Amino acid sequence: MREKIYRIYLDFLEIAETKRDWNIFNDIPWEKLRRAKVDDATAQSVEIYCTEEMYVPDYSAEGLRMLRAIFGMAWFQTRWAFEESRHSLVFREYLTRAGFRSEAQLAELEASVSSRAWTLPFDTCRQMACYGALQEAATYLAYKAQKDRARAAGDEVLSAIFHHVGSDEAAHAAFYRAIVKLDLEEDRPGTIADLVRVLANFKMPGEGLIPDYRERLQCSGGGLSARAFLEKAVLPSLAMLRISRAELNLERKRQTAGLAAVTAAAAPAIPGDRAMAARP
Ligand SMILES: [Fe+2]
Ligand SMILES: [Fe+2]
Repeated sequence: MREKIYRIYLDFLEIAETKRDWNIFNDIPWEKLRRAKVDDATAQSVEIYCTEEMYVPDYSAEGLRMLRAIFGMAWFQTRWAFEESRHSLVFREYLTRAGFRSEAQLAELEASVSSRAWTLPFDTCRQMACYGALQEAATYLAYKAQKDRARAAGDEVLSAIFHHVGSDEAAHAAFYRAIVKLDLEEDRPGTIADLVRVLANFKMPGEGLIPDYRERLQCSGGGLSARAFLEKAVLPSLAMLRISRAELNLERKRQTAGLAAVTAAAAPAIPGDRAMAARP
């Protein structure tokens, strides 16, 4: 397992360094920035994405604490953190260069980000790999929709930004899927059980951290509906992992039944029942 994870990371790094790499200075046609072309709603979406990406100190610190003993995962986490930091930077540069936000407003944003901390939504490496596969796929889809919109509007700057950021997110999703595939080979029932838990409790990193996250993304047209998440992120991921919906549903029913049994056992007895039970 250790060697396989390292190989998956090395493949990820090779493609990142040789084919996918980009930088905010040379690969974005900033000279084509045209303020008039961009509507406020798009700028709102970019600001929310920027804010969500700015939690990278928490994502990487928490992730590294969890993964530090697994060499390939820990090294992936460091490269991943660099790529995510590049995302927040390119969004930030866009907001200031396009004149949507001032330095003072960004200083306020930084202060609000550092005033709250993101914490791991799940307890184990395997659950976090399941979460990573779905969350990165959802992020990729949101950015792809923005890229398509920018392309249709003839906005070359935003189109380039979302193209590069989106290609990173797609690569992150693929890395986590490869890890989940390994987990399935090691322990299929346990991994399916974790996937069901993750799906039942799934939320994007910004939810609960960024005020009115969902509402603001919905208003600016930058969010992903529950239906799109299911159809375009969850189902394709399951297909790539060769997990059937029937297999997943069976586990979901098993967990729901288990939860109902635990709840019933913990629930206070109804007085009438107690009286019945006390009767000889
Ligand atoms: Fe990102
Ligand atoms: Fe990502």
